[in-house]
Amino acid sequence: MTTPHHGDDFLHDLRLRSAAEGGVFWLDNEQLAVFEPAAARMVSSANWNGLVMSDRLVDMVRRRRSTPMRWSRIRTAWLTQLHTLTTGEHNADLITRMRQIIDARLGDDVDLVLLAQDVAVQSILPVALSGLTAGESARITQDLNQKLLRLIDRHPGRGLRHHAHFAAVQIRAGLVVRRVLSERASGRRARELDLTDPIVDLLPELGMDRALDVVTAVLTAIGGPPGSAAASVLYEFVRNPQWAHRLTRELGSVDPVEFCAAPAKAAPVTHRFVKEVLRMWSPPLLLVRRARASFDLGATRLEKGQSYLVSPHMIHRHPRFWQEADTFDPDRFLPGAPHGPADRACYVPFGWAPKKCIGADIGTIQLMALCYLMCTRYRLSVPNADTITMACRFAPVPQQFRGHLALA
Ligand code: HEM
Repeated sequence: MTTPHHGDDFLHDLRLRSAAEGGVFWLDNEQLAVFEPAAARMVSSANWNGLVMSDRLVDMVRRRRSTPMRWSRIRTAWLTQLHTLTTGEHNADLITRMRQIIDARLGDDVDLVLLAQDVAVQSILPVALSGLTAGESARITQDLNQKLLRLIDRHPGRGLRHHAHFAAVQIRAGLVVRRVLSERASGRRARELDLTDPIVDLLPELGMDRALDVVTAVLTAIGGPPGSAAASVLYEFVRNPQWAHRLTRELGSVDPVEFCAAPAKAAPVTHRFVKEVLRMWSPPLLLVRRARASFDLGATRLEKGQSYLVSPHMIHRHPRFWQEADTFDPDRFLPGAPHGPADRACYVPFGWAPKKCIGADIGTIQLMALCYLMCTRYRLSVPNADTITMACRFAPVPQQFRGHLALA
């Protein structure tokens, strides 16, 4: 996904224009903002339905066609695997991995944005790619971290040296993925229950370069939004002590096995809390897409090759679709709440079909698991929590968000 760099003022201006101009408007000659729920759904469907992967590089050079590969086939393979990976037993393993990462940071004064990132990415990495050696894992993590820093730093690195280093780290991570794919395919490495494994079966049709792109798509996807959402969960948790208290009451008495088997059913208050965090602070804030064909959008027309922007955040904060859009209130997700979503198209933290996030379920479980750990195992103290602000980078990033974690 393309995620532009922008600042708070840019986003603020977009919100004002969106309110004034009805949600679909040209930013300049080449970029159309599509912040109206029905239009965003329509444009996504028109742009991506029937998507087929590009030909392999080697085939392009030889001017021949590759075996066609529909993107929906890749998504089906991922979703089938994820279904197996979100059972009670696997959710319990996910929580254990998260706990181990946090336990290692107890007692320190920690940067909670980076901690949230570590917890989210390191615990979900085995879902994407498992069975790695410590060295391989470090290479993948280094690549994910540098990509994240590029997204959240106000002044990302510049210059030839920086770019050369960035590229070298990326290439080394790519080599790890290639090795895993080819060794699993040849039987020199064990098959694993992860999102990479179904791609091994598709390797003969995909070819190595397209298979690498597919695995990289998942790695990129887990490198950004899950950690950002986890930081936003911690932010709202410390800024709303009354909600932290309600969550602690609910999670303190929940049966751990039931929680792992069906988190949303076992802990409905926590589920509402996470949904509201994802409404207020949906990462990434803006998604830039290129139109693959020309199509009409009511009053305007998008030509092939032009860009459009979609944004769950803009929809979630639009006063026409949400009452008191800037107020944090998880109870708006209670059935029949007057300030709830006007319809399903108004709540889209995981994007739109047919490119909707495949990790919606496991991502939500992970955020609920973070709440569970914060309420049952740890005590998080953040001095002057009410003065902490959110800055808008590729995603919302709490500023100067430091604190102390101890066992409860
Ligand atoms: C709270 C956590 C997460 C959030 C908020 C989130 C959000 C998103 C969004 C907004 C998109 C773009 C959808 C669109 O273009 O319409 C996306 C795509 C994607 N996400 Fe997530 N995501 C999360 C977690 C995850 C996890 C845990 C995984 C993997 C296990 C994952 C894998 C993907 C993939 C592979 C795509 C691209 C889908 C495609 O191109 O067909 N995401 N995500």
